[in-house]
Amino acid sequence: MSEAVALASTDKASRYAELMPQLVALCEGEADLIANLANLTAALKTCLPIASWIGFYIRRSATELVLGPFQGNVACGRIAFGRGVCGTSAAERRTVIVPDVEQFPGHIACDAGSRSEIVIPIERAGQVVAVLDLDSYELAAFDEIDAQWLAKVAALAASFSW
Ligand code: SME
Repeated sequence: MSEAVALASTDKASRYAELMPQLVALCEGEADLIANLANLTAALKTCLPIASWIGFYIRRSATELVLGPFQGNVACGRIAFGRGVCGTSAAERRTVIVPDVEQFPGHIACDAGSRSEIVIPIERAGQVVAVLDLDSYELAAFDEIDAQWLAKVAALAASFSW
């Protein structure tokens, strides 16, 4: 039986710093990829109430990402490499912060209420295996602090059995 994630801090960086070892502990001893990705999305939701949607898109072929475990409203099932924020992050192997989705050409609106977004690639041996996507109903919800800590979450996810 696992424990619920609990955070005492109020500022974002401190909350991530508290959360990170709990994420590692949450996934320790569990070998199943889907179980771990699902728990990561749930635990991140606790840390980031500003996020309306948190989830993974998993590379299923050379050209396409497919929806994985997530928390939030139903979302697009498939995203081509190079399309939208997720496909751009995957194709260019870089974190993409979008303060205003209306200013991002080709943004894919799964939820018309989304205003800002961050996508972090998950890489193994130089290959993108998935991306971690967070959306918010607030403009400019995500910044470099999120990018820095979510990269650590992506590194943890990269350590799973893909
Ligand atoms: N907005 C994303 C699509 C996925 S949803 O946000 C869940 C994009 O442009 O890639």
